[in-house]
Amino acid sequence: MNYAEAEKMLKSCGQEHVLAYWKKLGKKERESLLKQIATIEPANVKYCQKALVAGADVADSSKGKAPKVATLKGASLKKAIAVGEAELREGRVAALLVAGGQGSRLGYDGPKGCYEIGPITNAPLFYFHARKILARTLRYGATIPFYVMTSEANNAATVECFKENDYFGLNPKDVFFFTQGMWPGMTKEGKIILDEPGHVFMSPDGHGGLLAALKRSGALADMKKRGVKSVFFFQVDNPLVEIADPAFIGYHVQQKSEYSLKLCAKRDPFEKVGMPMQFGKSFRMVEYTEMSKEQCTRKNKDGSLYFLYGSPAIHVFDREFLEREASKAMPLHLAFKKIPFVGEGGKVVKPSEPNGYKFEKFIFDILPNAKKAAFLAFDQKDEFSPVKNAEGGDSPATCRADMQAKWKKWLSEAGVEVKAGVPVEIDPVYALDADELKTLGLNLFAF
Ligand code: UTP
Repeated sequence: MNYAEAEKMLKSCGQEHVLAYWKKLGKKERESLLKQIATIEPANVKYCQKALVAGADVADSSKGKAPKVATLKGASLKKAIAVGEAELREGRVAALLVAGGQGSRLGYDGPKGCYEIGPITNAPLFYFHARKILARTLRYGATIPFYVMTSEANNAATVECFKENDYFGLNPKDVFFFTQGMWPGMTKEGKIILDEPGHVFMSPDGHGGLLAALKRSGALADMKKRGVKSVFFFQVDNPLVEIADPAFIGYHVQQKSEYSLKLCAKRDPFEKVGMPMQFGKSFRMVEYTEMSKEQCTRKNKDGSLYFLYGSPAIHVFDREFLEREASKAMPLHLAFKKIPFVGEGGKVVKPSEPNGYKFEKFIFDILPNAKKAAFLAFDQKDEFSPVKNAEGGDSPATCRADMQAKWKKWLSEAGVEVKAGVPVEIDPVYALDADELKTLGLNLFAF
């Protein structure tokens, strides 16, 4: 894109101020600004402006009902596992990781997936995900292609981390990196914000940016070529997740579901997790901020919480459903933030109060479009302990403790009692679950 093209495009959407400092920019700054401008689509600018006018209006959730949530046990669990295992053996399952977030709460300088979480080895989060995929691939003798969504900001460092670690044992041909979109921040008035005279403030377009990115990058076409039917979706910050869990995959297939969600019981009525609710025949994710106090605390006759199950963002999608949704516009969520901007005389100002909006799409907004959705309960402490904050709850410390509690439970089931305070770590390729650990004759070892 050259200057004239950039000017024309910006004028078409009322954003010509983006070139206001052009004359003061050096050659390199001009080039990089033009590169940024080339990624901005006038249709998206108008889309963001529309969202600003509509404001943060949220749909009324007061008529929402709790969905029917399945718990698999005994024969039904065995059946689901058998169906899931058949899918895995036939190579019809893919793993899809969203790792394009900024991880601002953790305050880690780099892709969150490179954060060292292994209690003994300091292995990064990516290690645990990749090794689980490798372990399942080895167990079922069929490839689980691994699709990793990054952002412009962390793609190079993510790819580097995989390369440095020899892809954690995976075949590089089966790992597909793709970047999500970046959207410009805007003032209340719908003007794009420059955070430097030659630089537009941009941020990743949310995990919902996944759909457009899957299509744009060719990842969806790659899945189709490989014969993938079920796509296991997970987030980078949860090393406890059971990737491509056969029971979950199997239940999804049995239900002929397009969008299946693993759900866990809330730890307290006001826990900050989204709740899928039923509205007529369809479902919608209701964020915790949208729930009234009455909804959070509503009880069943037996005293249990009516809205008990929250979503930790562990999903299985039907590939064709993703294809259908990939070309549709998604709703935008607005976040009012402190965004540095170029003020009087071209000086950069760091505001002390929020001054501009970031725009994000959320993957669960496609839930109402699923012809069939399914919900499966699981035990939170077995599969969910995210690294969100630097300290306190949902931090590296709580996550490491939860990882070790899970492994110590497996070891105990295998007849090995580990003394309190002794650290434990298990490579998923060594043992993917408690049953596998039992087969390894561990009682020969003393801990
Ligand atoms: P979070 O909502 O926790 O956001 O992302 P975050 O960016 O990682 O962290 P904070 O809020 O800045 O502290 C949940 C999952 O969605 C991914 C993240 O990488 C994480 O796996 N995500 C989030 C994206 O892939 N892209 C985004 O634009 C946002």
